[in-house]
Amino acid sequence: MSDHSVSLSRWLIEQQRTHGQIPGPLRLLIEQVARACKRISHAVTRGASSGVLGSLETENVQGEVQKKLDVIANDVLLEANEWGGHLAAIASEELERIHPIPHRFPRGEYLLLYDPLDGSSNIDVNVTIGTIFSVLHLDEGVEQVQARHFLQPGRCQVAAGYCTYGPQTTLVLSLGQGVCAFTLDPEQGSFVLTQENLRIPAATQEFAVNMSNMRHWAPPVRRYIDECLAGSEGPRGKDFNMRWIGSMVADVHRVLQRGGVFMYPWDRREPDRAGKLRLMYEANPMAMLVEQAGGMAVAGATRILDIQPTELHQRASVMLGSRDEIERLRLYHLEAQAGAPA
Ligand code: AHG
Ligand code: MN
Ligand code: MN
Repeated sequence: MSDHSVSLSRWLIEQQRTHGQIPGPLRLLIEQVARACKRISHAVTRGASSGVLGSLETENVQGEVQKKLDVIANDVLLEANEWGGHLAAIASEELERIHPIPHRFPRGEYLLLYDPLDGSSNIDVNVTIGTIFSVLHLDEGVEQVQARHFLQPGRCQVAAGYCTYGPQTTLVLSLGQGVCAFTLDPEQGSFVLTQENLRIPAATQEFAVNMSNMRHWAPPVRRYIDECLAGSEGPRGKDFNMRWIGSMVADVHRVLQRGGVFMYPWDRREPDRAGKLRLMYEANPMAMLVEQAGGMAVAGATRILDIQPTELHQRASVMLGSRDEIERLRLYHLEAQAGAPA
């Protein structure tokens, strides 16, 4: 490793000191989340050798069977973040209700939301998984934090990020001024700045979607994918490639690295459910990162970051990535709404 490497801690302090971009408590918050991600990364790496694989007999609020690592990651994040004095409350995919900071600890002004372990179905097969997080500011003057205080549109996020546990452990972060990536150096035990100002190319020929759901999608989504599949003989006049890892965190990481489209759209099997992915701790943080990197993130015709949440665990239809493609998808939705043939 070069002597000139910049650790996450140094980078955060420099952002605070030189650029005045982050208040001290937010810096501490990010440091604590990163510390928790390191611990989760160690648990993931040990895998079967330390008995952390496999499922429990419990279900989370979404009705999904919990994996051991879902619960371990949730506990690690909770423990690392509740004592520091920077948070007022925490919300997690694995917790039905919000977790207000216990009275024995000082209370801060931020709200932290996370999906502790994204890509649970990939845990036991040693494929990249991750942690996704979002940070909101608590309104001033709130005595008793409640779930409704979390219900802010994604554009209000003060920070968003994720950490992937794969061949490398990578933390990708935005504080609202672009996107940076940090790679865990396992020898030093610290995250090192490896990419600054990540940019998603506007054009792409790659998409990621669970094709087995195709027959259930809405017409504008089918139209878009049909046209991609028609390749150079179809209206797009070019061939597309498909990649699907099945962990949102890893699929979105690929999009941030080299462009592409990631989708988990609404489908007609559960018409009253907006989609599979959760708005507050999956769609919103990823949408912030993608927009900060010059891409777009929509739920059909609507910008994801403009959705007004009504429930902590609500779902969203997600389409994000390279600007030209997501703009096209958005237009197909607008045309369908206007009654044009889809
Ligand atoms: P989680 O593991 O946090 O429940 O999220 C899993 C999500 C997401 O990571 C992925 O894109 C999607 O589920 C895959 O689901 P299917 O295999 O059902 O398509
Ligand atoms: Mn998830
Ligand atoms: Mn999860």
